[in-house]
Amino acid sequence: MSDNIRILMCAPDHYDVDYVINPWMEGNIHKSSQQKAVEQWKNLHNIIKQYATVDLVNPEKGVPDMVFTANAGLVLGDNVVLSRFYHPERQGEEPYFKAWFEQNGFTVYELPKDLPFEGAGDALFDREGRWLWAGYGFRSELDSHPYIARWLDTEVLSLRLIDNRFYHLDTCFCPLSNGYLLYYPEAFDSYSNRLIEMRVPEDKRIIVEEPDAVNFACNAVNINDVVIMNKISQDLEQRITHKGFKVVQTSLTEFLKAGGAAKCLTLRVTEPILEDVHANDYVESRVIKMEGHLLDSGMMNRALDLIVYEGGSFKVLNFNLGVERQSPSCAEVRISAPSKDVMEDIISQLIDLGAVSPPEKESDVILETVVKAGVSPDDFYVTTIYPTEIRVNGNWIQVTNQRMDGAIALKEENGTLTATCKLLRDLEAGEKVVVGVDGIRTIRASQSREQRNKPQEFSFMSGGVSSERRVELLVEQIAWEMRHIRDQGGKVTVVAGPVVIHTGGAIHLSRLIEDGYVQCLLGGNAIAVHDMEQAMMGTSLGVDMGKGIPVSGGHRHHLKVINMVRRAGSIANAVEQGLVTKGIMYQCVKNNVPFCLAGSIRDDGPLPDTQMDLIKAQSEYSRLVQGSNMILMLSTMLHSIGVGNMTPAGVKMVCVDINPAVVTKLSDRGSVESVGIVTDVGLFLSLLVQQLDKLTNRYQVAQT
Ligand code: ARG
Repeated sequence: MSDNIRILMCAPDHYDVDYVINPWMEGNIHKSSQQKAVEQWKNLHNIIKQYATVDLVNPEKGVPDMVFTANAGLVLGDNVVLSRFYHPERQGEEPYFKAWFEQNGFTVYELPKDLPFEGAGDALFDREGRWLWAGYGFRSELDSHPYIARWLDTEVLSLRLIDNRFYHLDTCFCPLSNGYLLYYPEAFDSYSNRLIEMRVPEDKRIIVEEPDAVNFACNAVNINDVVIMNKISQDLEQRITHKGFKVVQTSLTEFLKAGGAAKCLTLRVTEPILEDVHANDYVESRVIKMEGHLLDSGMMNRALDLIVYEGGSFKVLNFNLGVERQSPSCAEVRISAPSKDVMEDIISQLIDLGAVSPPEKESDVILETVVKAGVSPDDFYVTTIYPTEIRVNGNWIQVTNQRMDGAIALKEENGTLTATCKLLRDLEAGEKVVVGVDGIRTIRASQSREQRNKPQEFSFMSGGVSSERRVELLVEQIAWEMRHIRDQGGKVTVVAGPVVIHTGGAIHLSRLIEDGYVQCLLGGNAIAVHDMEQAMMGTSLGVDMGKGIPVSGGHRHHLKVINMVRRAGSIANAVEQGLVTKGIMYQCVKNNVPFCLAGSIRDDGPLPDTQMDLIKAQSEYSRLVQGSNMILMLSTMLHSIGVGNMTPAGVKMVCVDINPAVVTKLSDRGSVESVGIVTDVGLFLSLLVQQLDKLTNRYQVAQT
């Protein structure tokens, strides 16, 4: 026995699984045997007594988890930070532990109400005393870490837990003497794993595999060179022994049913203070402001969810709820993150949601110079589809050429500053690019309950994917809007895949072009090939479109078509020469509707018009898409995604595909104006033409 190490335990007199607050307790209510639990606890107690002095706190009725003294608080020297339990079920333990600490001469620090921290269950000293590892994600709040750093004057390294089976840090992480670490990496997010790897050299890391981890192998009590734990695999035992430790195993099955084992049942109350270790915590904090229909639009939820999802924490400093239906709300939120990197990830996403810095904290953008053409300085701000402004010399400038996945380049010419969204490949050496997250804001159209739910008007439900039942309704809305755009001299762009032809949609799309509803067509080689194949030979990929059966030798048709058009020199020439007399491409040529065909690796031919230089094709797409009021995306995932990325918010997008996954992917731009329709594209087009006919006839009647 060693006199200078003291460990606090609590006898299991009232231990039982009475409620469920972690996944281990599920299905285990009253399933642990009291007698067996007492036996197992006694065995552990006896083992520990051989290596340390055991102090006991009185077990109390009604708080069955009190046996898990690791959660009493966190001790360093004579100071203790008392636990604030996350679950009400355990909050009753707090006064008992507090009394014990006070009776034993500790200075007790208590965290603010509603700031949970579960003691040594979630905070483990490096056994050399160099720093404190502190967990968060399930029980303890990240914002408790700065308090601990300050009160205990120690360096705190925050680790984020992401697997709810390992809800406390001590369930998956156990620092050992001589700088060793026994842990289960999968329980942590990648940032935390990087931090662990930075602090603990590889030869000091003892990785626990899942089968041992779920037997609480990491929940071990380390006293000098002894490691006391529940039963583990031989392999792990050997690996630990190999590092110079003595492994003592004792069965703790009854406590596993409550989600705890050896370490949970103990609290080391003698933690020596090292002279040269001082407070330092890396938790960053920052305040943001949001304004608008924060509740109606779900913006508030989205913002708070993303903060937590990305590994941060928040405190709502104030929230001014707009009380009338039309009045906007305003919120100020303080965000904390375990590091600058995580903070920047969070802030950049909040900027995309429309969050800004409070006026007194506003600052200019940070700019860095492009050194190599086509390569941005690292850490550049990645643009979205939302209108964006940047602050330079105290003034906000609007970014032009807004698109997704670009960088913001700033140019000064004749004393005027211009900010432009640019693709990485277009960046020029010497140009300045916005990096970091300061001085950037995006403008989100505020979305009220009314705007989202106007049933009579054209209103695309936010990111909604429709089922067949809603298709007709949506087609009516789309037809209405298309007629309106045509009347106003607006622009509808169609992005279409060959499925349009295979599903019999060519005739309908041709009609739309002929009737002036389409101002621009984008697609690949295939749509043009099969459209002209149908026009010239009556088949689409060799299938007779009239009869719906394959024509013998039909698979060669499309190659013959390609060959003829190649001979003609261009699609326009083929039309002029009378080779192509109907169909989509025919109508485009006849009605001067510009088109761009972007090539790909699988293209046959290709057609003379197909742009096989993808960079040129992308630029051409982007030029043609400018000024669109609506984009119809018809069964082509790649071309549609490409177009979506180059289109700023505010353009109505309709994505039609038979595959719900494609539709969801395309319509999920987080912008109100996009809608997904899961249906056969040929059917969709036929309904659309029918509806437009109906509308225009009525319209003409109404006018006469
Ligand atoms: N049932 C207890 C809880 O969920 C178990 C605590 C285990 N303690 C620990 N330090 N991991 O809170």
